[in-house]
Amino acid sequence: MGIRITPSILNADFSRLDQEINRIASVSDLLHLDVMDNIFVPNFTFDFDQAASIIGSSPIPVDSHLMIADVDRLAPAYAHAGSASVTIHAEASSSIRSTLRAIRSEGARSGLAIKPGTSIEEYADLVDDVDMYLIMTVEPGFGGQKFMSTMMDKVARTRSIIGDRPIWLQVDGGISLETIEIAREAGADTFVAGSAVFNSADPADMVEQLRALADAK
Ligand code: DX5
Ligand code: ZN
Repeated sequence: MGIRITPSILNADFSRLDQEINRIASVSDLLHLDVMDNIFVPNFTFDFDQAASIIGSSPIPVDSHLMIADVDRLAPAYAHAGSASVTIHAEASSSIRSTLRAIRSEGARSGLAIKPGTSIEEYADLVDDVDMYLIMTVEPGFGGQKFMSTMMDKVARTRSIIGDRPIWLQVDGGISLETIEIAREAGADTFVAGSAVFNSADPADMVEQLRALADAK
């Protein structure tokens, strides 16, 4: 099973983002871009123009995680701006299937994220319109929170919904050297890590260490 490490720049130094991204680019599969609007979550990161500029200049493919209320209107624009993958929250969307299809028709992978309190079973019937499920392992909004191991059942159930389809299964929140193997054993194959990477003295080495644990048989 192929695995991916997708560092989140949420805890990077925003005043020198290009350099921060360059520190991890050569060892990372995708760059995880957390977009927050201070409405869907109580935190703000980038507006569309700022995000589009990061997407346009990133040396590696960008995985845009949209934690925004106006997601049905904006998600296709994030795909059009060049994201490799665009993930919407089930809780924010009022037309999930058509937004997932619009993301695909703009040439990006379609992602569906669910918060800790939301069940996956409700969204199992969307499986053929989804290229990645994202099971949140913290409440979205902030980096540096504690990994919720109680979400591992949900990860395992999502893995069985996926079956043998080539759909990625991402976890996001509190992934570190201590928790990545638990998530892998539950069935995750795509791992976001924010503070573990950017609070470490050597972010690239941390990505390599995380990959070694996630890849172990
Ligand atoms: C939380 C974000 C995460 C977060 C991960 O809402 O979606 O991507 O930045 O950060 P850590 O790895 O510090 O939990
Ligand atoms: Zn995220």
